[in-house]
Amino acid sequence: MIICIGAGPGDIGYLTQRGAALIRDADVVAGFDAVIRVVQSIIPASAEVIKMNYRDQVAQLELVAAAHHAGKRCVAVFMGDIHFSGFQYLERVERACGHPVDTLPGISSAQILASRTKVCFDETTFITFHRRGDLAPFKRHLVHVLEDLRNAIVIPCPWDAARSFMPRDIAAYLLAQGIPGEHPTEVWENLTGNEAEWRGSLAECVDREFTDMSIMLIRTRTPMASQIEAAGAA
Ligand SMILES: C[S@@+](CC[C@H](N)C(=O)[O-])C[C@H]1O[C@@H](n2cnc3c(N)ncnc32)[C@H](O)[C@@H]1O
Repeated sequence: MIICIGAGPGDIGYLTQRGAALIRDADVVAGFDAVIRVVQSIIPASAEVIKMNYRDQVAQLELVAAAHHAGKRCVAVFMGDIHFSGFQYLERVERACGHPVDTLPGISSAQILASRTKVCFDETTFITFHRRGDLAPFKRHLVHVLEDLRNAIVIPCPWDAARSFMPRDIAAYLLAQGIPGEHPTEVWENLTGNEAEWRGSLAECVDREFTDMSIMLIRTRTPMASQIEAAGAA
């Protein structure tokens, strides 16, 4: 048996009770080093821990799949929620296992950000650049999101210089596409941990540096709901 579970945004207090029960009952717990650290305190001493990183993940997932096929109870832990910026890793788990696997949602960094900044999901679009492959369609989509008067919650891409698309690059790209620099913008780092927040405008963001563990909110200047209400009142 194998299940992929969201470990939450970093503080174990945000792990769901169901996720914790699955880890406590597991024969094998697998995941990236940083995510294993989040749940380390509840992994049973009897469980085998299979850690991985970007370079060795495919080989390590083969070990997890072998344990699963041998009848062991395997749990693969993901950062935050699997269903936001987690599907490429999920596909690697499924490729190793040779079939679709079950998922258990976790609390995403995007949910914590929405809570800290008081934005409602209904008026917000989530976009991740923390992905392999061509980023161009996702960049265009972000432009359309802001043109459509929606907020955007954005996970940057922190990888090598050729692909890196951090908050300052995102801001510069949007300005070059004609998005006004006045959009209120926030970048939050290490949510639920050693948190840091920055608030300014999109134009001001082009001069700012943030760590890999950051998530960005670009607010619409005119919320769609207030536009609709204003139109109704007129
Ligand atoms: C591969 S994505 C996974 C996101 C995860 N599935 C989620 O739901 O939060 C990893 C990126 O998410 C962002 N992230 C994850 N947890 C975060 C946190 N606690 N605070 C700020 N950003 C976070 C960072 O940009 C990080 O590099």
